[in-house]
Amino acid sequence: MKYLQKIRTSEFFMLLEIAKLGALEKTIKLTSVKLSEIFRISQQTSSRKLRNMELFGWISREIVPKGQLIRITKEGREILQKVYSNLGILFVNRFPPIMLEGEVFSGLGEGSYYIKKDGYLQQLKEKLGFTPYPGTLNLRLRSKAEINARKDLSTVPYIPIEGWSNGQRTYGPVKVYRAMINNKVRGALLDAERSHYGEDVIEIIAPDFLRETLALKDGDVVQLLFI
Ligand code: CDP
Repeated sequence: MKYLQKIRTSEFFMLLEIAKLGALEKTIKLTSVKLSEIFRISQQTSSRKLRNMELFGWISREIVPKGQLIRITKEGREILQKVYSNLGILFVNRFPPIMLEGEVFSGLGEGSYYIKKDGYLQQLKEKLGFTPYPGTLNLRLRSKAEINARKDLSTVPYIPIEGWSNGQRTYGPVKVYRAMINNKVRGALLDAERSHYGEDVIEIIAPDFLRETLALKDGDVVQLLFI
């Protein structure tokens, strides 16, 4: 974007701080000591940056005894507004959906063991509105970035499945996140509090036998979209 080419990052953040001090609406008086305190940089550096901002046309300023009078110009205001509207598109007007991708692999049948248990099955049917295929499709996340993105799920609403007990042992609670699988099939991710897998593995349930519906085999990459 053209206006971004003009922005020097540190000056931009300085402009933002000055705006927070009220310089969008009025002329403010700042001492160079105060400025270097705000930005935790030397007085020399802060004066240089202020000079730059003046050169870019972002602020007008006047040196007075014991400091300077600063006001953000029309140009400076426009820079802030452009960044604001870009951030608005990203964060305010719509939340970008979270996407995760992982590679199909076979486990040892643990998924079907748990899904078939009445304590889970009844809640899943009731709360999700479908009968899950008895099993979970295991996906391995392939990178650190993907594992980190998994943590973003904490910003997505989930369906709580309560833990239960059959008198012999207890079964832990599970968070269920609805997801669109490969843009085709509805399903959900199960996030078990006591999972036998590490953080690089996610487990998917769906009404369909996904290996058939989506023609999947071990090693195929599956995409999940959380909305
Ligand atoms: O043995 P593993 O832990 O991999 O799987 P499982 O949970 O016992 O599920 C049985 C089989 O069904 C596995 O091959 C899963 O990948 C598959 N599956 C599927 O295709 N679609 C589902 N909705 C659930 C499981």
